[in-house]
This record gives sequence, structure tokens and C-alpha cells, in this order.
Amino acid sequence: MIMETLRKYGQDFVASKLESLSGEARAKLEKQLSEIDFAELSELIRDYVLQKPVTEIPADLAPAPFFPFPAKDEAQEAYYEKARKEGEHLLAEGKVAFLVVAGGQGTRLGFDGPKGTYPITPIKHKTLFQYFAETISRVSKKYGRNLHWFIMTSELNDKRTREFFCENAYFGLGEENVTFFTQGTMPAISYEGKLLMNAPDSLALSPNGHGGTLLALKKSGALDEMKRRGVDYISYFQVDNPLAPMADPLFLGLHSLEKSEISSRMLPKTNPYEKLGNFCVSGGRLQIIEYSDMPAELAERRNPDGTLAFLSGSPAIHVISRTFVEELTKDGRLNMPWHRADKKVPYINENNELVKPEQPNAVKLESFIFDALPLAKHTLVLEGSRKDHFAPTKNATGVDSAESCRRMLCERDAERLDLAGKKVPRKADGTPDCLVEISPTAVCDNDDAVKILSDAKYKAPEPGSEVYYE
Ligand code: UTP
Repeated sequence: MIMETLRKYGQDFVASKLESLSGEARAKLEKQLSEIDFAELSELIRDYVLQKPVTEIPADLAPAPFFPFPAKDEAQEAYYEKARKEGEHLLAEGKVAFLVVAGGQGTRLGFDGPKGTYPITPIKHKTLFQYFAETISRVSKKYGRNLHWFIMTSELNDKRTREFFCENAYFGLGEENVTFFTQGTMPAISYEGKLLMNAPDSLALSPNGHGGTLLALKKSGALDEMKRRGVDYISYFQVDNPLAPMADPLFLGLHSLEKSEISSRMLPKTNPYEKLGNFCVSGGRLQIIEYSDMPAELAERRNPDGTLAFLSGSPAIHVISRTFVEELTKDGRLNMPWHRADKKVPYINENNELVKPEQPNAVKLESFIFDALPLAKHTLVLEGSRKDHFAPTKNATGVDSAESCRRMLCERDAERLDLAGKKVPRKADGTPDCLVEISPTAVCDNDDAVKILSDAKYKAPEPGSEVYYE
């Protein structure tokens, strides 16, 4: 049966490999093939591989409205205060769970292992996972409730991720407070529309993008688990951003008061071509237009006061209502568009030799979480701040790198020390003249910083020193 399907859809190479296999190897490849809907795949090959899809820019595209931060006037501040109280209540009631997407391959970082196991803090070299775990433990303590953590992995890094948590005793969170679930995969496809294999018994598979989160939540049972645990709101963030404000009462509270289905943080872009997706509206629905698809005329458009018209960039930080995900995935399917990425994908040839191409040779298809935005009737966008909320670790050095992330963590912690009255020595350019790191087990937000670090036992750092606060 599967042999006929492969031949019907012109996948003769895979058919011939399958024919030559027996036992476990055959079962493995058959299982991978059984998960593919070949009729759908052939449409994807036609639309996304054999031709390059063009993103249509709707004629009515307009900048998305957003809640400014800080509030623009007293009335708004009073509303924000109400929202903060609501958010604190949701946390204290255990109605919020954290969801980190950690299924990516982290190719740009060039690190051998799941990205969450990458050491990121400037002094103690805590890993990204440890940093989040410690933050969750502090938030849980603060609100008097064990808040649950859902971690999305992919088949490529699931085993290693689970082992890492076991080896580190779940960083003290308690195994019962952490749930792993695995996203789906997509096969890499050659420019000729053929499935690539990276071993005689395996297709070249890769994770299906962070948009895969929604269906994976449903299929893995994690969504049901959320319901069982009384979780109504999902605080969604990416594993490479240790500054993500995962338990911000204002953001959570606004989401709830506004009856939003999916809410987003935005960062004001510093220039028209910054590499962040643009929050826009069309037909009354929120959507993101990727920076690479934004026409120059729109990207550069300015308001009369000189600010960018399309100001809002996305750092991929969301609050999502559980019921929204349930509704979207109720049939066990989810229609979201795919995005094409041209990649260098190693593959085996007729003689089972692994070929490592020097140039992109294949298309990987991914779906993106932000394509859920236009599927929602009620959304909101809240302004955030780059220095407080966004330090993505994409590359080893340079822009959006481990290096810049460490620097930002140090600067944010230096500001928290200043807030607590522990004056941080600074260089002429204003950057800290010392290395500081505050443990998230002690301090998870600015309020904590003021309350906890003001204590006399914490000393201000000396110029040129390295100080760890816990
Ligand atoms: P990126 O788009 O930066 O991809 O993911 P990446 O795989 O981490 O890195 P590169 O592009 O290969 O260098 C943003 C976030 O989405 C998660 C990543 O783990 C990261 O937290 N992600 C991405 C998934 O969980 N699954 C995916 O299929 C893709």
C-alpha cells in the first residue's frame, strides 16, 4: 500500500530504499511514512517547493493599535492597576501555566545540544533552562502556588532535554510540576520535489516550526492536562530569550480583562528594517507581516511626528487562552499557512553515501505561531521594552547573540541593583563597570529587586568586580 502511494506520488527513491529494508529498519521508515498525508504533501510541494510562494500584502493593511507602556494618562494607569491585580489573582489561583517552545534546531548558535542547555548567565553560566526554572520557582513562591511548566521539544532533542532535567533534579521544581511534549516533524524536500533521506532507514525530518505548538498541545494531551490542572492561560515564550517576562501581572491581567484569545507583546522598532515581524491589521484581524515581506514604502512610512507608522515589532511573547487552542484544534487539524526556508540538508544517494551539500539544496516547511493571530476574534498588543524583555540568543557572537544576551542580562540586573539603592559603578558610556548577576530564585521582577536587594546584607558592587546575588 505504502509502496503504491510512494510510486503514485513520484517518490521512487524512497520506495526503492524501503524495498531493500526489513525488520526494525523497515518498520522505522514505514512509521515515518505513515505519518505523511501524501495528497496534502504533493499540494505543498506544488505551492511551496516547485515555486516560491509570494506573500500577498492586503490593500487595507494598517498598523496595529497597542496598549502603550507606560500608560498614556491617569485613567489608563488606573486601568493598568486593575489589570495588575487581576493578573496577580490569576497567578495566585494557578490559572496560568508557562510554555516554552524549545523544539528548534538552533543551527545559527552552532551549539551541540538542545538550546535550553546552553550556558547563558554572565557569572554562574547557568543554562537557559535553569534560568527559567529558577524564575518559575521564585514566581511560584511569590504567589504561593506551584505554577506548571510545559516544555515543547522536538523528536530531535526530546530525549536529551528530559535527561538534562533528570540530571539536574528538575532544578528543584519537582518533576510533577513539569510536562514535556513533542511537536511534529516535516520532511525536507529537494528542489525537484523529492523526499530526502538522511539514512537508509530514515527521511530527513525536521521540526515543523513553532506554529506546531498548537496541534502538539492537542495531540500530546498537554491541553487536556492544562484543563485538568485548572489552567486557563498559557504564558508563551521562546527558549532563547531569558528576559521574557513570563509572569507579568499586567500582561496577564489585560488579556483576561479584555477577553483576548491571544495577546502579544510588541517592541517599538528602532529602524524600518529591524528583523522583527510587524504587527498589522487587515480586515479587522491582527496579523504579522514578516520583515522580509514588508514593502519598503510601508516599512519606511512615518507619522506626522516622525515616528514609524508600522512601529510594532514582535519578540514572540504571547498569552494564549486555553479555550482558544481547544477551539482551533478541536478536529485534530489546524489550517495554518506554511513558510518556506531554503536549507542545506544532508542526504543519502543511491549508494547510501551521506552527501553534505555546500549550497542550499532543499526546502524545509515550518508553520509559525503568529499565524494563529488572524484566527482570533479578540486580540491585544501591549508595548514592551527591549532592554527588559528581549535578549534573543540566536548566534554565538554579534547581533542577537549569546554575547549580547549576557551583556543585557548584566545591564538589567545592574538596573535592578540601582532600583534597590545599591549604586552600580558605571563607565563613561553608562554601561556597568562591573559584572553582576542576580539569581532569579531571589528576584523575579523589579518589585522583588526593591524589596529584597535593599537589605543591608547586599552590598553595591565595586568598580571592576564580579558579584553574584542570591
Ligand atoms: P528560531 O526561529 O530562532 O529557530 O526559533 P531555532 O531552531 O531556535 O534556531 P535556528 O533558526 O536553527 O538558528 C525561535 C523559537 O522557536 C522554537 C525555538 O526552540 C526557539 O525557542 N522553535 C522553533 C520550536 O520550538 N520548534 C520549531 O520547529 C522551530
